[in-house]
Amino acid sequence: MPVEVLDNLLHIKEGDYLDCTFGGGGHSKSILENIGVSGSLKAIDKDPKVLKFADQILDSRFEFKNISFSDLENSFPCESFDGILMDLGISSIQLDDQSRGFSFKSDSILDMRMDQTQGLAAFEWLNKADEKEIADTFYYLGEERKSRALAKQIIEKRKKGKITSTSDLINLRFPYSRSKKHPATNIFRAVRMFINNEIEELISALKSSLSLLKKGGRLVVISFHSIEDRIVKNFLRGTLENVTLESYLEPEGKLIKPSEEEVYNNPRARSAILRVGKKI
Ligand SMILES: C[S@@+](CC[C@H](N)C(=O)[O-])C[C@H]1O[C@@H](n2cnc3c(N)ncnc32)[C@H](O)[C@@H]1O
Repeated sequence: MPVEVLDNLLHIKEGDYLDCTFGGGGHSKSILENIGVSGSLKAIDKDPKVLKFADQILDSRFEFKNISFSDLENSFPCESFDGILMDLGISSIQLDDQSRGFSFKSDSILDMRMDQTQGLAAFEWLNKADEKEIADTFYYLGEERKSRALAKQIIEKRKKGKITSTSDLINLRFPYSRSKKHPATNIFRAVRMFINNEIEELISALKSSLSLLKKGGRLVVISFHSIEDRIVKNFLRGTLENVTLESYLEPEGKLIKPSEEEVYNNPRARSAILRVGKKI
């Protein structure tokens, strides 16, 4: 939804913008192409591997920081931005990189950290977590119906040897008949979200947007599944973590989904949902 992102985000030509999810820099580059000479773009990403893409952008209006959503408030002054973009989840570059273990389409080390310099890798966590913690993660973050049965299989597998690779998850016995999506989709997403603390990070980013946006500024969020989208939707109705916010963003327009043509050209976009809020 590149056109919809730009239309909603760039409401002031000479404005100051923040891309919270730089990735391969696709959105950042289009923002720079569409803002004026005295506009500016700051971009962040927690993955140090994207630095090589940020370094290729030689534009005095652009600045990149290798930080997380939870660092935003300490990294920029209040009311810095006319628009903030969050394109949640992982990039195609991360998904396709076999050394990272994000994809069930290849057999690789089960790492799944967006920032591989910090925290536990997925295989380390799966080798030490107890059955209930694994089952709860599959259930709450993956919305996986067979969470308990699959967690039990992981504990059984651990008795025979350590969990190390994506195939340890792919080769679990999934108690489903034929389904359109890969049976490991839900648990891959659950483990990734857990390892990267994605819900807490999203909540922190949404909170920060309240102080970082200027009056009239826009927040544009693209989420890829119902858990994230529910948090964003409730935030735009004035509630975060079941607490009513004192100040909040007003929803702008209805949610936007990709066109059939976009999904045809980029099947990974099929579950994207774009929501826009405006600081009042
Ligand atoms: C869907 S990709 C963004 C793709 C990007 N819009 C583009 O055009 O290439 C999401 C990016 O956000 C980063 N990311 C996800 N959660 C983050 C967080 N909590 N803090 C900072 N970066 C994060 C990921 O590392 C990934 O590179």
